[in-house]
Amino acid sequence: MRVVHSPLELQSLLKEEPGSIGFVPTMGALHLGHRTLIETAKKENDITVVSIFVNPTQFLEGEDLDAYPRKEEADQKICELSGVDYLFYPTVDAMYGEDEVSLNAPDVRGYIMEGTSRPGHFSGVLTVVNKLLNIVNPTRAYFGKKDAQQLMLIETMVANLFMNVEIVPMDTVREKDGLAMSSRNVYLSEQEREEALNIIKSLRIATQMVMRKECTAQEINEAMLEVLKPLEVEYVSIVNRAFMPLTKVEIGNTIILVEAISGSTRLLDNIWI
Ligand code: PAF
Repeated sequence: MRVVHSPLELQSLLKEEPGSIGFVPTMGALHLGHRTLIETAKKENDITVVSIFVNPTQFLEGEDLDAYPRKEEADQKICELSGVDYLFYPTVDAMYGEDEVSLNAPDVRGYIMEGTSRPGHFSGVLTVVNKLLNIVNPTRAYFGKKDAQQLMLIETMVANLFMNVEIVPMDTVREKDGLAMSSRNVYLSEQEREEALNIIKSLRIATQMVMRKECTAQEINEAMLEVLKPLEVEYVSIVNRAFMPLTKVEIGNTIILVEAISGSTRLLDNIWI
């Protein structure tokens, strides 16, 4: 595995690679969810590239940029053992200059749901993903469905800017008890973690209600909020795949999303129906 810090060096190394390139962009603190993305990238491509970059522009003032878990050695080992070909580890200065061109998230879909509690977050995500995709120029890039709004906005950016990359959405990987894997789970105390399980409980209840076919989106929403009571709920949303609100679940075209805070940790989860 080759570890590269310079964007231009990586760009020129990858230009010489003749086969397909699978890319997994991450912010590090790698867990089983990331490993699943890497395994799939390896299966589907000739070369696998992983980036680890805690991107400052997607953190708002007062968020956990400084505290965000950084596990350089362990992450490097995981990438090595997973058979990654190139690990891209840039510094902030290598990725950003002064007075830069940047991307704005769409006015509506970038500022609803997570975009309401974190205004500007998705502009930072799109800016860095755009840079990373331009550096790596991958055949396919892999993103988790847990960050469903991020995934939809990246797909939108790729379509709007006519970018030549296939975005591959990957199912959420869960702990045995159902908690969606996230690098931020390490912040949770035992009690907060227990409370966080109400998120998957609420999504399971929503699934049961959908299977019984007897309820409106509002009824599902209310039942979920009841289960989520111990947490500080940012939103429960029932939308179609284009993120337009639904009054009734449409099988094959619905995402039910939750964002809730346990202690001071923001947790996201969703189910695709
Ligand atoms: O999902 C993440 O880890 C980040 O938002 C991403 C896509 C790597 C951009 O910094």
